[in-house]
Amino acid sequence: MEKLTAVILAAGKGTRMKSKLPKVLHKVGGKPMVEHVLDAAEAAGCKDNVVVIGHGADLVREVIGSRARIALQAEQLGTGHAVLQAAEALKDFQGTVMILCGDTPLLEGAELRRFYEEHVKLGAAATVMTAEMDDPTGYGRILRDEKGEVAAIVEQKDATEEQRRIREINTGNYCMEAPLLFEVLKTLGNDNAQGEYYLTDVLAKLRAMGKKVGGVKTDDSEMTMGVNSRVHLAQAEAAMRRRTLEQFMNDGVTIMDPASTFIEKTVRIAPDTVIYPNTWLQGNTVIGADCEIGPDVRMENVQVGDRCHLQFLYGHDCQVLDDVTAGPYVHLRPDTVIGNHVKIGNFVEVKNSNIGTGTKLPHLQYIGDSDIGSNVNMGCGCITVNYDSKFKHRTVIGDNAFVGCNSNLVAPVTVGPDTYIAAGSTITKEVPANALGVARARQTNIAGWAKSYKEKLERKAEALKKEGK
Ligand code: UD1
Ligand code: CA
Repeated sequence: MEKLTAVILAAGKGTRMKSKLPKVLHKVGGKPMVEHVLDAAEAAGCKDNVVVIGHGADLVREVIGSRARIALQAEQLGTGHAVLQAAEALKDFQGTVMILCGDTPLLEGAELRRFYEEHVKLGAAATVMTAEMDDPTGYGRILRDEKGEVAAIVEQKDATEEQRRIREINTGNYCMEAPLLFEVLKTLGNDNAQGEYYLTDVLAKLRAMGKKVGGVKTDDSEMTMGVNSRVHLAQAEAAMRRRTLEQFMNDGVTIMDPASTFIEKTVRIAPDTVIYPNTWLQGNTVIGADCEIGPDVRMENVQVGDRCHLQFLYGHDCQVLDDVTAGPYVHLRPDTVIGNHVKIGNFVEVKNSNIGTGTKLPHLQYIGDSDIGSNVNMGCGCITVNYDSKFKHRTVIGDNAFVGCNSNLVAPVTVGPDTYIAAGSTITKEVPANALGVARARQTNIAGWAKSYKEKLERKAEALKKEGK
């Protein structure tokens, strides 16, 4: 049976980030970098993985949770020393150790899987994944012998002028056979520019022992990019965004302006949906087919059905069924379910409410803690008064109710089906089915009042003028 496990190096401080947060916890595409690397390792088939942590150990441990085993590197003495800390966890392991760095967030499982299969085919004791970089600055350079075999890796800081011109670099991804790997790691020295135990020296050591060392070049150098600074972080973010959007487009989603569209990898969108500019979709958001989303939509963990048109909207932790139109300026808050064929117009907020099929919330509503039936028409400016300064209460509105403009429904309150509420009412008790609820002062007209009032004002002005005031 295949034996493949990953060791992910995540103990470094990331000095060049100038951050109190450990480097591997900086987010790319909304997710800590080390989690992306774990995703890739798991997708490649690595099992019982080990993450080496050290700097900010508690914070990193919390993010890893139960997804992987943890090895502690108390002092960061280099990448070779870091892998050695996993020796205890892997003391009975015989097979391939895929070594990855926690700061390479663009890695993908399929590419790592191909790399592993190449390593197996080569039958090497260790294989390094290399890449050709236009700008190799900062990376270790691959030294090949006259036969083209990988002879050694030299770090930027230890490289000669000539070696620095080499554009084939060490991606930091390796497959190495255990337990041989750990035997060699114990023999590493730290006589180099950084005074560190370099994992990269394992390759030259294995060769000196007469073992086979392989180098497999990836075509996708961008995918292997390591993040060492905030500039790199922005570059990784841009690259991940572009790659993710391209995936959505390849899957049949129209993205009108990729430059202003942010969609996290975790989001699902069905074909023939169109995404307009300034749209940001996050978390477990799922969008059906034939929708128009945006401009200016942000959704976090929102499930949207088919054929919905949403614009200028912020939604989080809620559900929108099919054929809904909403916007502009709509806020959909947690635990809300917007039913089929609902129309939501401008300046509407809905929280913890169920809105039935075909109901209209056309303008200026606050709907909180409510269960609204189907085909209800809420007039402009209607408000559910759900909060008594201490507790929240529910408002229930039956099917086909027509709630006149500017009504307040003081919860807990029930408005029956097929009812009318007179505009401007403040409803505090139940309105039974088929009734009209009126709750406002009765209008009286005083004949001629306006005319005599104006005349009185005129007379006052005259008198003041005479007194010279
Ligand atoms: C390393 C490689 C370099 C390669 C590059 C690819 C070495 C000596 N150099 O350089 O050849 O081109 O990655 O991105 O391996 N870490 C620890 N403990 C330590 C030191 C580092 O866990 O004591 C972790 C870091 O958290 C990081 C990873 O190892 O996730 C790589 O360390 P980093 O300092 O970024 O190495 P580079 O200088 O980029
Ligand atoms: Ca690095």
